[in-house]
Amino acid sequence: MRVALLVSAAVFPLAVGPVPRAAASPQAAGAPAEKAPATLSPGKPLDYEFFKTRVQPIFLHKRKGNARCVSCHAGRTGFAVASLSPGATTWAEEQSRHNYDVASEFVVPGDPAASRLLMHALSAEAGGDPYHSGGQHWYSQSDPEWQTLAAWVRSGASEASGAAQVLDFEFYRTRVEPIFLNPRQGGGAAAGGVGCFACHTILATPLRLLPLSAGGKTWTAEQSRRNFETVTRLVVPGEPLQSRLLLHPLATAAGGSPRHTGGKFWTSQSDPEFLTLREWVRRRR
Ligand code: HEC
Ligand code: HEC
Repeated sequence: MRVALLVSAAVFPLAVGPVPRAAASPQAAGAPAEKAPATLSPGKPLDYEFFKTRVQPIFLHKRKGNARCVSCHAGRTGFAVASLSPGATTWAEEQSRHNYDVASEFVVPGDPAASRLLMHALSAEAGGDPYHSGGQHWYSQSDPEWQTLAAWVRSGASEASGAAQVLDFEFYRTRVEPIFLNPRQGGGAAAGGVGCFACHTILATPLRLLPLSAGGKTWTAEQSRRNFETVTRLVVPGEPLQSRLLLHPLATAAGGSPRHTGGKFWTSQSDPEFLTLREWVRRRR
């Protein structure tokens, strides 16, 4: 489990303790240039009524051996739900609206595995994130509560950016994916030298790549296809400097986003990896 150790070293010091909302939310971490890409299809919003009546009670429920989600998350960390009003046993309408917005920030509509709201408190053995300060609350994806959360995530659909239709899959497979696998031995990132895949195959974030098969050093063509769908959602065709994929690992001083938990990998826009990604985003197939 060398990789897991590296990952924990890189992620956990930053992840421990209450964090300011802006720092913890994937959306809020973006530079102004990271605005939502122009879209072909508007997607489908997550179901609010389902959230209010079925999902919210989960945050209030007491599970054996654990504090309730609301005990820690009322007004704290990125997933900062509203505090209950004195004497109230549930949230009022306006508070529920707020909770819906906050919870949605940790969800990729249609994709439970990329949704931190579901994966963070799920045990790692069941496919969850390797660490959550608040403990493990579910030990299987067939837990009824987890299933309810998954049903909510599937009530929505991500916006189709159209990038998968215009970008070159072969270029992606032969030139872009190797960047994710680059082991970066000896460094390359301020936070330590691990490859993108070490984190991005096991952590629930929008860039959720498929795990490598046991013993596999690369992805199969079929797996690459599915990764391609995921990765193209983080790219605006023709606009490298509006593409989260390029901005997140790029040093802030070189025009990158303010912060990336995984560290900054490229110190300038002339880094060869950055240039490869730029070429991919600019060319049409
Ligand atoms: C004992 C306190 C505690 C409990 C109980 C708890 N959490 Fe957390 N949770 C935290 C802390 C602290 C963090 C930030 C550090 C981290 O990621 O571990 C966090 C992080 C998270 C995050 C990542 C976004 C963020 O806020 O940084 C999600 C999503 C999350 N928790 C969901 C839940 C859910 C859902 C429950 C209930 C099933 C729950 N938590 C219960 C303390 C708690
Ligand atoms: C040590 C773990 C780690 C490594 C290594 C890492 N990342 Fe990340 N990355 C994260 C975490 C955690 C997030 C979500 C929180 C944030 O935005 O910082 C993230 C977020 C991102 C995002 C924003 C979309 C999302 O999924 O939230 C992109 C794009 C990204 N990383 C790209 C990369 C690329 C490309 C590499 C390799 C060059 C890389 N990362 C390496 C941990 C890592």
